[in-house]
Amino acid sequence: MTESLQTIAQQLLADHKGLLAADESETTAGKRLATIGLENTVENRRQYRNLFFTAPGIEQGISGIILHHETMGQSASDGTPFVQVLQSKGIIPGIKVDGGVEPLEGSPEEKMTIGLHGLDARLADYYTRGARFAKWRAVITIGQNIPTDNCLLENAKALAEYAFLCQKKGIVPVVEPEVLIDGSHDLDMSEVVTTKTLRVLFQELTTRGVDLTGVILKSSMVISGNQCPTQATPEEIAEATIRCFTNAVPKEVPGIVFISGGQSAMQATVSLNAIAKVNTGPWTISFSYARALQGPALEIWKGKTENIPAAQAEFIKRLQQNVAANQGKYLGE
Ligand code: 13P
Repeated sequence: MTESLQTIAQQLLADHKGLLAADESETTAGKRLATIGLENTVENRRQYRNLFFTAPGIEQGISGIILHHETMGQSASDGTPFVQVLQSKGIIPGIKVDGGVEPLEGSPEEKMTIGLHGLDARLADYYTRGARFAKWRAVITIGQNIPTDNCLLENAKALAEYAFLCQKKGIVPVVEPEVLIDGSHDLDMSEVVTTKTLRVLFQELTTRGVDLTGVILKSSMVISGNQCPTQATPEEIAEATIRCFTNAVPKEVPGIVFISGGQSAMQATVSLNAIAKVNTGPWTISFSYARALQGPALEIWKGKTENIPAAQAEFIKRLQQNVAANQGKYLGE
């Protein structure tokens, strides 16, 4: 039986579990591997994925994993295809389908996400291979006179087209407009830009006929820029983030999941905990982290077989802390 978009979304958002964003591009994965002195090879990337996907107990904190195209065709160290490894644990496989970013025409310091060409056929293929949700990331930069209205609109239109095509194929679109942490902007500016970004996005999703009950929003938190001299407290981040969503996210949307977005692993947990405490909105909130879940384990692993158990234990600990934070029950390390 084909599951409805709503059922898949509810499964992804159930039991305070989160998503693992294991969809770094080959270049970004290479940067992560370089931090522990590993070469950026197909096999090293496979081992990096294997570390997390086979961590004992991962299914207690993770409901879905966003895969990269390369990973979807790879197998665990025991030969079992990764997709099967996940399915056997009740984890829903997802797939990143955008084609990365290019300079935006007419405003080259801004970014435009590409990848709509041939997307319909790729989605059909990914569905047969087991993907039940997808991700498309737009990148919004805050700076002098940016983001422009055109940047928000063009990226929202692409997100809407992607979401529409996903839903036609029975795939839940995770729509991600990431407002970057890079810059000296303060919390207020982050709130203004994120609110506007989300309003434009939901306007375009609605215009394109996307069913909002079968969409998950992946958002950045409303947070001070990393160069801002006054850094907002977790409580201020939480208030601004929820106010932003209240002003911009339609109540039909079942869930909102966060990127860690350049916060440290611990900061990302603390911020999530503060947000969960004040979340009065109709949406389930959760995490969809890459760096904040994988970073600490990567440092322990260092590419060595003997370090795998300790690295996996660290990953599971971060998972448990974020599942607690999702309920406002994080008590510190
Ligand atoms: P981070 O949690 O590392 O920010 O990545 C999440 C993500 O999926 C960005 O697209």
